[in-house]
Amino acid sequence: MSDFYQKAAKYWANVPATIDGVLGGFGHISDIDIKGSRQFLNEILSLDHAPKTSLALDCGAGIGRIAQRLLMPIFDKVDLVEQDEKFIYTAKQALDSSDKLGTLYNMGLQDFKPEKKYDVIWCQWVLGHLNDYDLISFLERCKRALNKHGVMVIKENITSSQEIEYDDEDSSVTRPYKLMKLIFEETNFSVIKETIQEGFPEDIYTVYSFALTPKKFLGFVY
Ligand SMILES: C[S@@+](CC[C@H](N)C(=O)[O-])C[C@H]1O[C@@H](n2cnc3c(N)ncnc32)[C@H](O)[C@@H]1O
Repeated sequence: MSDFYQKAAKYWANVPATIDGVLGGFGHISDIDIKGSRQFLNEILSLDHAPKTSLALDCGAGIGRIAQRLLMPIFDKVDLVEQDEKFIYTAKQALDSSDKLGTLYNMGLQDFKPEKKYDVIWCQWVLGHLNDYDLISFLERCKRALNKHGVMVIKENITSSQEIEYDDEDSSVTRPYKLMKLIFEETNFSVIKETIQEGFPEDIYTVYSFALTPKKFLGFVY
């Protein structure tokens, strides 16, 4: 494992398995975050060719904050992928009594190879832990793991500068808007919806939500 991944794993291993812990001391923004996400997801589910609500995947799921409050009330089953053992254990304890809990994968997204098809794949506040190369191959794998009309949602911090910003403490990067768009282009995803999360404190990064679907192949028909 490279230093970039090792350092991040070490950082999260020392963070308490609480909402405040997974949100880096910003536990108080969880409610407004979930509210914004619910609105975004409901808009996706109201599209003409909306995804079904059978199976969702929560990527970098932490202690299951999003699975529990956003995805499980809507989807029949929710799978989680999370690399920190203590977080996924806490998620299991919290969600085990629900018949909505699907499979828990305890591994990094850089190694995760989906073995099912999903209606919605939700990635939030985790993709900065992947380098560009791994992010691209992860998105490629997710694209192949989407059901018909399936949607991938990416909700991440975005820097207003034109440069990638590296955080030495948790070993993550924050990408500029243009780079995110380039990566979506590179992986043949279309952005069908995007929004800025409102109501967050002024002194944190702007948080964008992107809804992505695989680009249609515009081949010639002879
Ligand atoms: C800021 S927390 C966000 C957790 C969750 N998405 C939420 O919003 O409540 C980042 C999470 O990503 C996880 N993580 C870090 N690097 C990862 C990787 N390479 N693969 C999967 N998960 C990772 C951490 O263990 C942590 O749970």
